[in-house]
Amino acid sequence: MPEARRIDPRDRLIVALDLPTVAEAEAMVRRIGPAAGFYKIGLQLLFAGGIDLVRRLVGEGHQVFIDAKFLDIPETVRKAVESVARLDATFLTLHADPRTCRAAIEGRGDSALKLLFVTVLTSVGNADLQREGFSRGLADLVLDRVDMVLAAGGDGVVASGAEAAAIRARAGAGLTIVTPGIRPAGTDAQDQKRVATPAAAIAAGADYLVVGRPVTTASDPAAAAAAIVEEIRAAITG
Ligand code: C5P
Repeated sequence: MPEARRIDPRDRLIVALDLPTVAEAEAMVRRIGPAAGFYKIGLQLLFAGGIDLVRRLVGEGHQVFIDAKFLDIPETVRKAVESVARLDATFLTLHADPRTCRAAIEGRGDSALKLLFVTVLTSVGNADLQREGFSRGLADLVLDRVDMVLAAGGDGVVASGAEAAAIRARAGAGLTIVTPGIRPAGTDAQDQKRVATPAAAIAAGADYLVVGRPVTTASDPAAAAAAIVEEIRAAITG
């Protein structure tokens, strides 16, 4: 069984702590309790005391995904990733640029930090790409960048449920696919345009699911997280 298939279903759920303060994020982690063990911290919280929260969560035995989407000159990326690697987080996001990818791999050294790449932001459409002078369409550009990540030795990509199957077909089992835009059946899509249920995303080849509001705004976040983990478990065991 490939390594990715052996991940415990609970560890495949990454709860996005998109909350304005560390106090609110910590309260949410307490409410969720043992129902989840993996948290994503993004730019909003990183610049509001989130780095110390990363240390505390890791110290408590949680896994942490730092969603910082780095893109800079190689030397800056290398040094920044060196600093991130000291936090003992599990995942860090960067933009899928070949020099960024190589510098990040150098920067993480022999730490266990896994590097995930954003191929094309989901807020970017075909019309935006044309305006910016790209000759490739969105779907092709995503796969080009998957090829680049594989060639450079990156660990994985962030991809919507709509892209996951094509990426899995292109990359095989060796690439980690992390999928946001997850909405359990019957829940509101909110501002997400292309949503997938947990079961559909896993069936499309996702290894990890990023879920924010369906858990954090639920009346019982622990129960919402547990239900998603059960759906993941059922989708994996088929
Ligand atoms: O609340 P919701 O489940 O929509 O949150 C999804 C999380 O995943 C947010 O933190 C969002 O920034 C992130 N994300 C996304 N789509 C991407 C990349 C990241 O929704 N393509």
